Amino acid sequence: MPLACLTDFRALAQERLPKSTWDFIEGGADDSFTRDDNIAAFKRIRLRPRYLKNVVNVDTRTTIQGEEITAPICISPTGFHCLVWPDGEMSTARAAQAAGVCYITSTFATCALEDIAATAPRGLRWFQLYVHPDRQLSKQLVQRVESLGFKALVITVDVPKLGNRRHDIRNQLDLKLNLLLKDFYWLKERTSMPYFQMSPIDSSICWNDLSWLQSITRLPIILKGILTKEDAELAVKHNIHGIIVSNHGGRQLDDVLASIDALAEVVAAVKGKMEVYLDGGIRTGNDVLKALALGAKCVFLGRPILWGLAYKGEDGVKELLNIIKNEFHTSMALTGCFSFWIQRARSKIPRAMGKTEERQYHKAVLIASEAWTEECL
Ligand code: FNR
Repeated sequence: MPLACLTDFRALAQERLPKSTWDFIEGGADDSFTRDDNIAAFKRIRLRPRYLKNVVNVDTRTTIQGEEITAPICISPTGFHCLVWPDGEMSTARAAQAAGVCYITSTFATCALEDIAATAPRGLRWFQLYVHPDRQLSKQLVQRVESLGFKALVITVDVPKLGNRRHDIRNQLDLKLNLLLKDFYWLKERTSMPYFQMSPIDSSICWNDLSWLQSITRLPIILKGILTKEDAELAVKHNIHGIIVSNHGGRQLDDVLASIDALAEVVAAVKGKMEVYLDGGIRTGNDVLKALALGAKCVFLGRPILWGLAYKGEDGVKELLNIIKNEFHTSMALTGCFSFWIQRARSKIPRAMGKTEERQYHKAVLIASEAWTEECL
């Protein structure tokens, strides 16, 4: 039976993967409240379609950090792709290149960065960095990704330490014994660092350290994991190029806002001074449209990419991306939205909202506003 939506891939991935791997991918932190709310929150938002808008030439393309992508649907960083498919991140990179979307490669990639870059040389790639306590090691890694043609550096800020993943404790999952993280392996003497230790993520990192990162790279820096206006304003102050509103798919601090519920506050706080993206709970084309309507420039998929990979490697990820891109095209047409290039030119940043106002706003998000579709009148 042909697969019709992203959750069809989920069932097949679960069938194919060992229980401990499946739990590692699907699990959230603590009670997994935020993981589930990421999805439920999208369902609380209603669309207001506008009709008779000539949507013959709906165009899903957009840009992120000045680079064109075929649709505002890209790939979040997730580690350990070789757990679910033999050539792991290389398959993901080829699928992203074929789909014309950006792939954020994780620090915890299980293929060497050189191989990922070589297998998809024309693909748009960003690199997600967990800053290592050994700054020299992080500096070498940043210089290496820059020379390999990665186009932005994504700093994940919501992991000063790992969240409580109860399923991994129960399954006694020990990633560092199972997998060689080739990128750190490459950096150090083989004898001194045969395995990357899961613990060394620098928990001392703070806002003032961003200037150090800016001094070692020419790449735009994007912060992943921002959820509040206070941190968004600090990001503007520190000349950051972009924010990914994210709660790590509910895998870090439980009981925080669903990503989509945090988006409007962050968008309002940056006042158009940088691009804002979102990940967490995106499962349908309508979800993508809702995030864009609330001010995101692009969204990223985490777990669904691993479902596609577990199902059929590169082909599975291609098929999955194709389905959600088609869904998004339909969502645009059915709401009277012609193009996000137009929206970009005329974007209206939602102003800061009070609680009641925000609730009303969520109930009736103005998806197909006049400004978005004026060109096709
Ligand atoms: C992640 N995520 C993640 N984030 C990050 O910055 N670096 C990483 O290495 C990882 N690794 C990782 C592994 C797995 C198995 C998952 C499920 C997630 C978080 C990821 O980038 C993203 O924020 C969420 O997955 C988005 O939520 P959805 O799309 O999974 O609902």
